[in-house]
This record gives sequence, structure tokens and C-alpha cells, in this order.
Amino acid sequence: MQTIKYNIEDGVALIGIDVPGRSLNILTPQLQQELDQLFTRLGGDDAVKGAVLYSAKARGFIAGADLMALVEAFDRGTSKVEAREQSAYLQNLTRRIETLGKPVATAIGGLALGGGLELALGTHYRVLSENPDAQLGLPEVSVGLLPGGGGTQRLPRLIGVAQALPLLLEGKPVGPQRALELGLVDELAAPDQLLARAKAWVLGNPDACQPWDRKGWKPRDLGNLAFPHGPLTARLLQAHVASRGNYPAPLAILSCVGEGMVVDIDTGLRIERNYFAQLLTGPVARNLIRTQFINKAAADKLVRRPQGFASRAFSRIGVLGAGQMGAGIARVAAQAGIDVTLLDASLEQAQAAHARLAADLERAVGRGQLPATQAEAVLGRICPTADYADLGAVELVIEAVFEDLAVKAEVTARAVAAMPAQALFASNTSTLPISLLAESFPRPADFIGLHFFSPVERMPLVEIIRGRSTSDATLAAAMDFVGQLRKTPILVNDSPGFFTSRVFGSFVDEGFLMLEDGIAPALIEQGARQAGMPVGPLAVADEVSLELQLKVNRQAIELGLAPRFQRGAAIGLVKTMVNQLKRPGRRAGGGFYEYPEAGVKRLWAGLAQHWPQASQQPALEDVRLRLLTIQALESARCVEEGVITDAADADLGSTLGIGFPTWTGGVLSYIDTLGLAAFVEQCDGLAERWGERFRPSDWLRRKAEAGERFHPALASAVR
Ligand code: NAI
Repeated sequence: MQTIKYNIEDGVALIGIDVPGRSLNILTPQLQQELDQLFTRLGGDDAVKGAVLYSAKARGFIAGADLMALVEAFDRGTSKVEAREQSAYLQNLTRRIETLGKPVATAIGGLALGGGLELALGTHYRVLSENPDAQLGLPEVSVGLLPGGGGTQRLPRLIGVAQALPLLLEGKPVGPQRALELGLVDELAAPDQLLARAKAWVLGNPDACQPWDRKGWKPRDLGNLAFPHGPLTARLLQAHVASRGNYPAPLAILSCVGEGMVVDIDTGLRIERNYFAQLLTGPVARNLIRTQFINKAAADKLVRRPQGFASRAFSRIGVLGAGQMGAGIARVAAQAGIDVTLLDASLEQAQAAHARLAADLERAVGRGQLPATQAEAVLGRICPTADYADLGAVELVIEAVFEDLAVKAEVTARAVAAMPAQALFASNTSTLPISLLAESFPRPADFIGLHFFSPVERMPLVEIIRGRSTSDATLAAAMDFVGQLRKTPILVNDSPGFFTSRVFGSFVDEGFLMLEDGIAPALIEQGARQAGMPVGPLAVADEVSLELQLKVNRQAIELGLAPRFQRGAAIGLVKTMVNQLKRPGRRAGGGFYEYPEAGVKRLWAGLAQHWPQASQQPALEDVRLRLLTIQALESARCVEEGVITDAADADLGSTLGIGFPTWTGGVLSYIDTLGLAAFVEQCDGLAERWGERFRPSDWLRRKAEAGERFHPALASAVR
């Protein structure tokens, strides 16, 4: 099927793009091929004075590249040579258009992203719809790539290096007004005038030529390139610091601009395609695309939802416990249009939580994040109470009281007596087994775990925990609820700590054990950040509080959980911090860090007295490796034990929930990228040096020996 159609009007070829089977155009290989053939023909046709590119669809221009084509390229194990050819194809097409010897304009009716914008940049003139939906951008960096169709060369040549760099490095699109100010487009027009304006320009400019193809042309802020504080140098430093060597795309983009701007455009394009090939054949782009785009989109579409149950929309829920989590859950539910009964032990406590939410929302209004009327509506939907009778009409109750089995059992029993007989019940517990909590509920099939993350309004993930007796109908309804809140669900089976708390625990405990090993605290924290974790294990332990670690440990012992689930690896250290040194964490005034009233937090100097630092410190890389490996290994155990049944859940849970670095693609992609055999060897090496907890199980060894992996080929996972 054709992807383009064209007709000649007044000697101008009007080329409408209409990629079949899609509501928005994307830049498929077929579209590129057809455009290539058409422009070759038009170039030799004397009756044609010029051309206008536009979208023949109702919306947008071209919304970017075909992610599936990239996925297939990854699966095939595309070589650098093939990757260069792929980039060269679009580069040659755009080069052919701009050197056609005839004027070519683009009428951009809406989204022009990635390859779509690169195509438009290869034409001589751009008219953009003044409709605010119209967005222009080069988001390739967010998938670990660079614009490989001439974008890194044309954009800085067109609008200057300083203005081009943020667009290339941050990947954020701009709207019509900003696009005009930047010089990304030449003119704004009403949507119904676009074609006419573009055509008029073509007819009035028979000698169109790109500025960089004129004799003597020089980039306008080239001087800055060499200047030490010029935009490129500053960005280079920033990119080095921010990526910590884990994300190659920003540096590759900077290299393309820096190296490409001091040579002619054709050489610049060759430079660009070499860097593009490096990125496309490296693991980071593949891992980012798989987890953050393909698998996240699938999870958002509720791919794990059991089939055969009518989709549900909730209109009224109850939340037990108006603390940090309960209030946050109430807020996101109310923002999704759901009425919430927010219950705490006393009316005063519930009202205080409501007042805190009001203050939070007022701040959000002040920052322009939401309109005042919306904030008011959200607050209006949340009804604070201490009276269980107010749960009489809810469809779902979410429990978020203290992490204490007895307290949870008591509030559950009281809710049961008041809530409708068919309403569902969910617990937001982070550590207590769901099947155990379900014993306090008369209909365990209707009981499920909905584990939110703090702060609820910002964290995108919800870990759904299926208890032993949870029914498919309950699971389907819980998925619908999470979808209604616009959060990303993952599905795991019941086990102490489920998936995320368990892996997170392994990270924090490893930090504690390092301290006991005599590793300098600053080195521990730096190793985590170098790996790409947002904060180090000591800082994060301070945030969640060391007292909580003690409580989790105590409760695990009381529940009779197996020793490996007791979080006892470094419990001696935690006890010393809390009981002896009285440093239980940030909220209590201090923990591993000091928190001066004025100024930034700093590691507590007293740590060295209690955990003397070894005279021989390990390399930063060793610390980094320990922290990444322990989490990946714990995740592999979760697969072995059936807690995780789909690798995508582990990858999404670790990156969206607990800050495992996105460049890895997530815990299991990290292992797959190394290869199971290499990972097992890495674990054995760490076990020799640091302890048996790194020893891989026989199951993992067998899997490695059989040459297996956690993820299937990407394309088959998508289809
Ligand atoms: P919190 O201490 O801030 O809030 C607990 C609330 O429950 C308080 O407002 C308290 O007054 C209320 N409460 C206690 N006993 C009650 C009773 N008998 N009747 C009615 N209300 C009662 O605790 P937070 O952090 O909100 O945690 C709540 C639950 O969420 C816990 O199970 C915790 O493990 C879990 N969780 C916590 C996360 C966090 O980062 N804080 C993350 C994910 C889950």
C-alpha cells in the first residue's frame, strides 16, 4: 500500500503523507523509500517547480521513528555497518531534497518529532500550525539514541549551537510560538492555511537553497565552540557529570555537534552516522526502549490483566489511615475523579491530613501545576472521618495504617463490619505477607495487595500483589483501578517483601555491610550514584528510618519467616545506630547523615569511630558492582521462587519503584545484557571476596549453562 499521494497544483507537487493503519504518521522504511523515489522523479521533471510535504491525515505531521523497526534491528543483532546504512538512508533522502535545485517546503499540521522533524529540517521552508497541539522536537536522547537523519547537523546550523543543544540533549518538544522564536520554523499559520502558505512560498522562491550550501557560510556561534565557557564545553561537562559514563547518547550528540560544525555538512553527516551506529548497536538504547517504552506501554495497557472480566471504573473508595501513604493515595484517587472516605483513628487526625493535603495542593497551584478550581474539586472529593459507618457505599477499601499485623487486623475487622458485602479490600503493606493479612478478611478471594510508593503523587508505580486466595476477578478490578489512577502496574506473587521491598532491602543491607567491611561511607554513597542510583544506601536508609528496619526485622522473627527474609544481615549495625548512638534517621534529627539547619546534609563524622575504615579501600568500581549485583541476584531469586512471573515486571518495578538505573533496562535486563554465564561468574567472584550471599543458586547456574536468558527476543515479546 502506498504511503504517499501527490498531485500537481500550479506546478507545485503537493505530497501528502498517509502511512496506512495508523492514526498518526511515523517514519517507516517504506515511507522513506517512496519519498526517495518520488523526489528523484520530481528532480528531473521540468514541469515541476517545487514541492510541499504535508500530512494527509487529520492529525499531526510525522510523530517519529518506527520503534518496532528499531526493535527488530536489535533482535537481528544489527551490525555497525547496517546501522550506518540505516542512518545514511534518511540522511541521503534529506540531502537529496535540499539539493534538488527546486524549492521544497513543509506544512506541519501537528506533531513533528524525531525523524519527522529531521525530514522537515531537510526542506527549505517550514510553516507550522499555530494550534497549540503542534509540537516539534528531537526526543531520540530519551531512548538512548541521537537524531541520525541529519538532526545533529542541521539543527545547530539552522538555529545556532547554544539554542540547539537543549533541544538535542533534553529531547523535550516545543510548541508553535517557541518554535518560531527559535527559528525552527519560518512561519505560523492557521491550520486551514498551511498548505496555501507553503505553496505560495515555493512559488515565490524558485532559487531556494539551504544557508549551509551557500558559498562562504559559517555557523553563527562557531566562536563559542572553542571558547572554554562556550555552550558546548559547559554542556559536555554537565553531560559527563549527569551520565556518570552510563548514558552514551548525550556525549555522542555533543561529539556530533562539536566535530560536525567545523566541517562541511556532508562530512558532518558521516560523523553523525558513525555515532548513531555506535548507539544503535550498544546495549543502553535497546534496554531503555524495551523497558521504558515498549514494556511500560504494555503495562499501562494492563497487559497482565486477566481476560474475561468486564472493565470497571471506581467512583467511591475508602482509605484507612490518613498518614503519609493514605493521604497520598486519597489525593491521586480524588485527582482521578474518585470520591474518597479518608479514615483515621480520630476525626482530628483525619482532618489534619486533609489540611495537609490542602496546603500541598495550594503549593501546586502556586507553582502553576494545576488550576485552583481543580485543587478545590480534588479536596472536595476527599471526606475525612473517624466513623467506619462512612464506608457504607465504597467499592474498594485500601488499608494504609501502621505496618503492624495487630493494628491492621483490627482496622480490617472494623471495616468489614461497615463496608458493602461485595466491596474489595486492598492493603498497602510494604512487607507483611498478603495471604496472612487476608486471614482477617472473611472473603480472601476479594483481598489483594496494592503497594504504592512514596511520594504517591509523583511515583508512577503500583506493585500489585496476588495473595494465595486472590481471585482473577479481584486482580482484574485492581488493575482497572491502577489504570484509572494512571499509574503503571506490575504483578507479583506473595512472598515476604514481595518484589520491590525485597530488592530494595538487599541494596540497603549491602550498604550497611560495606560499612561493616570498613569501606568509607563516602565511597559507598558515591559507588551507588556512579552506578546510576538516585541516592546512596545510607542516605536512603536515613529517609525511610533505621527504626523501621528494626521493626521489619522484629516482625519477621515474630512471624517465623525464614532467616533470609528477616532482613537481619546487618541488624547489629542498625541496632547500634538506633539504640546506642540514638541516630535513627532523618526525621528523628540524624542518622548516617547530619542535617544542619542551614546548609546541606553531610555524612556523620562519628561513623568512623564505630566502624573504622580499612586502610586499603576497594576501587569505586567494586562498590558499584556489589550494589548492582546484589539487587540483580535477589531479583533472579524472585524469578526462581515464582514471585516474578514476567521479566518485564521486575525491570519496571526496579526502575520505576526503587531507582535501579534505567540505563540497565532494569534488574533482569542487567543480567541478560551481561549474559547469564558472565553474571554467574561475577557473582562467584563477589562471593569469594565478600560473602556467600553473592553465591548463585543451582537453578541460576543451570539456566546459565543452558544458555537461557530472562527476556525473550524483543519483537516476539511485543507481538
Ligand atoms: P504513617 O505512620 O505516616 O501513617 C499511618 C496512619 O495510620 C497514621 O495517620 C495513623 O494515625 C493511622 N492509624 C494507625 N492506627 C490506626 C487505627 N487503629 N485506626 C485508624 N488509623 C490508624 O505510615 P505510612 O508511611 O503512611 O505507612 C502506612 C502503610 O503503608 C504501612 O503499612 C507501610 O508499610 C506502607 N507503606 C509505606 C511506604 C512509605 O514509604 N512510607 C511505602 C509503601 C507502603
